[in-house]
Amino acid sequence: MKNKEQILVTGAAGQIGSELTPLLRKKYGESRVIASDIKTDIPSELKDSGPFEKLDVLSAGRLGEIIAKHKITLIFHMSAILSATGEKNPQLAWKVNTEGTRNILEASREHSIKKIFVPSSIAVFGPSSPRESTPQETILGPNTIYGITKVAGELLCGYYVSRFKTDVRGCRYPGIISHKTLPGGGTTDYAVAIFYEAVRKKKYTCFVNKETMLPMMYMPDCLKATCDLMDADFDNLKHHADFNVAGMSFTVHELAREIQRHIPEFTIDYKPDYRQKIADSWPRTIDDSAARKEWGWKPEYDLSSMTEDMLKELQKRKEKSGL
Ligand code: SER
Repeated sequence: MKNKEQILVTGAAGQIGSELTPLLRKKYGESRVIASDIKTDIPSELKDSGPFEKLDVLSAGRLGEIIAKHKITLIFHMSAILSATGEKNPQLAWKVNTEGTRNILEASREHSIKKIFVPSSIAVFGPSSPRESTPQETILGPNTIYGITKVAGELLCGYYVSRFKTDVRGCRYPGIISHKTLPGGGTTDYAVAIFYEAVRKKKYTCFVNKETMLPMMYMPDCLKATCDLMDADFDNLKHHADFNVAGMSFTVHELAREIQRHIPEFTIDYKPDYRQKIADSWPRTIDDSAARKEWGWKPEYDLSSMTEDMLKELQKRKEKSGL
């Protein structure tokens, strides 16, 4: 059954898309997973390992054409403008994140797509939300344009589930840490940059302060959450596109100390900028009991195992081809 699916990934060249696409190609067959992105200068391994289509998710016509041409049955909608870029260009963030998501939902309805994955984010929470063990159901009230678009996206997905019986799923990703493709313009990007700089220069200047704690997740867990939720039995889900998922939480200071266990000369200093305010409006830790109960979510990586793996992989890359 699985082998009959034809899959479209939007934002395939992004931080998550660039690792999700090869994983899906392995799982479903290379020719059955269509990578798409607004960019065309994408890594050759993505382009060469299966079909690629240039796609701006704001073009509903082009989206429909691609779906029809490849007889798409499942969509992973990974393209979005993240929080920090969003604050620099709120109009673009609103357009790409809300109209892009609406185009995906509408195209799915028109073309009878079986299932769609539409990610949300911890950014749906805001200054009035509880910051410790933030519950699944609580006051949201985000104060970033990114968070506002993600709340709109969650509500729109919920509307399509109840109004059109669309099968749409999604989780509220925390900051995603990975070593293959850099994240593009998020507030949690420091948790990736710190590793690159530790391996490159053994020092890092952080744009949020040392006590900043945010929920994070290592890429293998992010991919696992995405695929497990997509594979879950829809009838067992009470929530749909808004699952809290937790991996780990740490302060920047704790992360730096963990890196120093491997690179004792590593030093860090702090120059907080506009992203501090965004970080301060988000949860520190997340309660993901609904995801655990409804589809068996369980992360594998903690701060120590993630740090060890990140440093090992980046060091390998540095020696092979330079960072
Ligand atoms: N990583 C995202 C950001 O920082 C949060 O979902 O914008």
